[in-house]
Amino acid sequence: MAADVGLIGLAVMGQNLVLNLADHGYSVAVYNRTTSTTESFVATTTADQDVRATTTLAEFVDSVERPRRVILLVKAGPAVDAVIEDLVGLLDAGDIVIDGGNSLYTDTERRVEGLADHGIRFIGSGVSGGEEGARHGPSIMPGGSEEAWPHVRDMLQAIAAKAGPADDEPCCDWIGPGGSGHYVKMIHNGIEYGDMQVLAEAYLVLTAMGLSPAAQAEIFAEWNQGRLQSYLVEITSGILAATEDGSALIDVILDAAGQKGTGKWTVISAMELGQPMMLVTEAVGARMLSSFVDTRARASALLQGPSTALDPALTPSDVADAVYAAKITSYAQGFMLLADASNSREWDLDLASIAAMWRAGCIIRAAFLDDIAHAYRDAPLLENLLFDHFFTDAINGAAVGLRKTVVAAAAAGVPVPAYASALTFYDGFRTARGSANLIQAQRDYFGAHTYERIDKPRGEWFHTDWAGTGGTARSGSYSA
Ligand code: 6PG
Repeated sequence: MAADVGLIGLAVMGQNLVLNLADHGYSVAVYNRTTSTTESFVATTTADQDVRATTTLAEFVDSVERPRRVILLVKAGPAVDAVIEDLVGLLDAGDIVIDGGNSLYTDTERRVEGLADHGIRFIGSGVSGGEEGARHGPSIMPGGSEEAWPHVRDMLQAIAAKAGPADDEPCCDWIGPGGSGHYVKMIHNGIEYGDMQVLAEAYLVLTAMGLSPAAQAEIFAEWNQGRLQSYLVEITSGILAATEDGSALIDVILDAAGQKGTGKWTVISAMELGQPMMLVTEAVGARMLSSFVDTRARASALLQGPSTALDPALTPSDVADAVYAAKITSYAQGFMLLADASNSREWDLDLASIAAMWRAGCIIRAAFLDDIAHAYRDAPLLENLLFDHFFTDAINGAAVGLRKTVVAAAAAGVPVPAYASALTFYDGFRTARGSANLIQAQRDYFGAHTYERIDKPRGEWFHTDWAGTGGTARSGSYSA
């Protein structure tokens, strides 16, 4: 009998997803470019896990039941196109290909369209949760050819993480057309960068307070019991508690952060849409700055900071507020971007459902995603997350500690770009009349770019001959 599903790509995520499928009763045909990997992996499966090795793509395709469901877990980029190219001639119209890697959403859009020409239905699906998630239940974000959804829904929802009061709500639902599944995963990753930076700054500030990694591990463990409960806070506690030869392991890890690009893609998309994804932008920048290890070492000998120590009045509870307020700000920005992408690409994203899908399985899973899901369930067209009464109260409360932390850190020369950015956004957002009037005047002065006036209706544009030397020509008005 043919296998229920096929999976190509037996790296860490692929292997664990196969085992997850097998544990849920699905027979899985597997293929990997290097046959020895396939063989050694299948040899580790147990008798009740129906996992079948294949050695050629043709054999693989032949061994999957029709319409075929083929999951790809190969490295994002050209490797995905190469596998698709090899598969196209072997698959039949009506077959379904699911790309579960971290593909760029515009590549997914192209693949959905390209494969539709061959009658093949393509799903670009974000899969989050790392190795453990893939094995025991990831968050799955599928989008693309919607006709394929009924054929894969039960399977994907079976292997997905479960959330909700009875732990029975799958963290997997249809996201939308085109590249929307991978877009939502990209935003997840951007937010993940932000969350990680926010926690790294807490570590830096707590260290400046004189707290050892072990003491911080306890603080993070305590935070994990309340409003900051999240996977990343939990693992940070574990990381800070880890020792090697009796000393904290964190102390010997080089502070140069890697990145594979999804955070950067998020920022690029935010820029393209004109959305202020400011905290994630700082998080990506902080990773980049961290990579200049040798230059920073030279700069540390040359450039002076304040001699002031961190304000002793600053407490871990203020830092907890900073983490919470920064997170709320970052998610507010992330959901602004999602809403804009949804409108401009006509994806009709269900923001409540996306927040619900991130409650379990994925890297950013957190208690607080329940609150976000509630906010968008109560008001699907909510203009901004900060306008939901729960979040208005939450940020009004936590902004006090955020401000205290930013002030103390700045005075002591401790870099907290994510907190500073969150505070700047918060203050900018709640400022009804800011300073962009001056920007507009400057633009009009040097380039006749025109400006609107508060004493005239919006959309009426004015130009002033500021220096008395200009002509009457005006530059066209447009917004990027
Ligand atoms: C996930 C993660 C994962 C990501 C890693 C590393 O949701 O499981 O987001 O997809 O690849 O977290 O990402 P960086 O190397 O860019 O930090």
